[in-house]
Amino acid sequence: MFETLKEQPADKILMLMQAYKEDPRTQKVDLGVGVYKDASGNTPVMRAIKAAEKQLWESETTKAYTGLAGDPAFAEALGKLVLGDAVPAENVAAAATPGGTGAVRQAFDMIKMANPKARVFVSDPTWPNHLSILKHMGLEIVPYRYFDNETRGVDFVGMIADLHQVMPGDVVLLHGCCHNPTGANLNISQWKAVTELLLEKQGTPMIDIAYQGFGDGLEEDAAGVRLVASSVPECLIAASCSKNFGIYRERTGLLMAVSSDASAKKLNQGTLNYLNRQNYSFPPDHGARLVTMVLNDPELRADWAAELEEVRLSMLGLREQLASELQRLSGSDRFGFIAQHRGMFSRLGATPEQVEAMRHDHGIYMVGDSRLNIAGLNKTTVPILAEAIIKAGC
Ligand code: LMR
Repeated sequence: MFETLKEQPADKILMLMQAYKEDPRTQKVDLGVGVYKDASGNTPVMRAIKAAEKQLWESETTKAYTGLAGDPAFAEALGKLVLGDAVPAENVAAAATPGGTGAVRQAFDMIKMANPKARVFVSDPTWPNHLSILKHMGLEIVPYRYFDNETRGVDFVGMIADLHQVMPGDVVLLHGCCHNPTGANLNISQWKAVTELLLEKQGTPMIDIAYQGFGDGLEEDAAGVRLVASSVPECLIAASCSKNFGIYRERTGLLMAVSSDASAKKLNQGTLNYLNRQNYSFPPDHGARLVTMVLNDPELRADWAAELEEVRLSMLGLREQLASELQRLSGSDRFGFIAQHRGMFSRLGATPEQVEAMRHDHGIYMVGDSRLNIAGLNKTTVPILAEAIIKAGC
């Protein structure tokens, strides 16, 4: 029977991760997969997570199942981190999921259950796995313009023009902050305009927020999500703890279904529970429990927020260093966008050939669409990258 299966395309980001590992050169720079690395190239366990783990080991008395939606305390704590006071808790149905990808997958599943004919509008470009999952699920994908290849900023005029095609029953997927793969983000007045348009067109927003705290700060990065959630009749929010809590392998995410009418919560919650049961029963608990402990303990929370801020500022510093190095080498301001972008990624705007030349000649690994992970750099490798960019003729 299995001979009928077709070869599936390998995930480009994960393939690149493998290629980097296999490259025998000692002078190589990994700017591929979205994992934070410190100046020595390590991805440390955050201090507060380590402390919570110790406490948990000492205090945990059972590994019995939690609930189908995970521990409600996790949904409450993470929900509050993302939404603040934007919407009352009784309007939010939520379920823990295996990572942000799990939340995205469950969200698409919920959309498909509600309206199998829903078209899902996605930014061009978006995280490739959004497209892969949507395709796998047979949901119709409609790209909307997002990135301006000239300015390397948001093509807001194009975006709004394309979102005028949204019809009732359609879904618009937005990145909450730190757009992946471009690093170009909406400002708050653009969020307002998008929200108004979605209200007018009766489209349902779905927000993927995987990098809260990596852009302009924990509160600032949630401003768009909060605005949307408090303005529209319903929306879905997929949140990830992989990056901002540094617990990638623990697979910790949350899907929230927000509605302006509290009576919708029961149906939404039942659907989220049902979907968890169909796909994996109980969601993983370890990472979720650590996040809950960190968020609910003032000391751990303060330490976590301080370390996250160090991470954010170190990436900003690297952005500024790279932009000024490129300005020096090119004698122009054309790379200034690198300092304007926010989050872990920037899309450089290089051709696939230029990306390949940088890999071949300099051992620099970035995704084929020229997305680079800023956190893969350090003060020493920034000048190496800058030189490679100029030599490749970008
Ligand atoms: C990325 O975009 O590199 C990360 O979100 C990791 C992944 O799963 O692709």
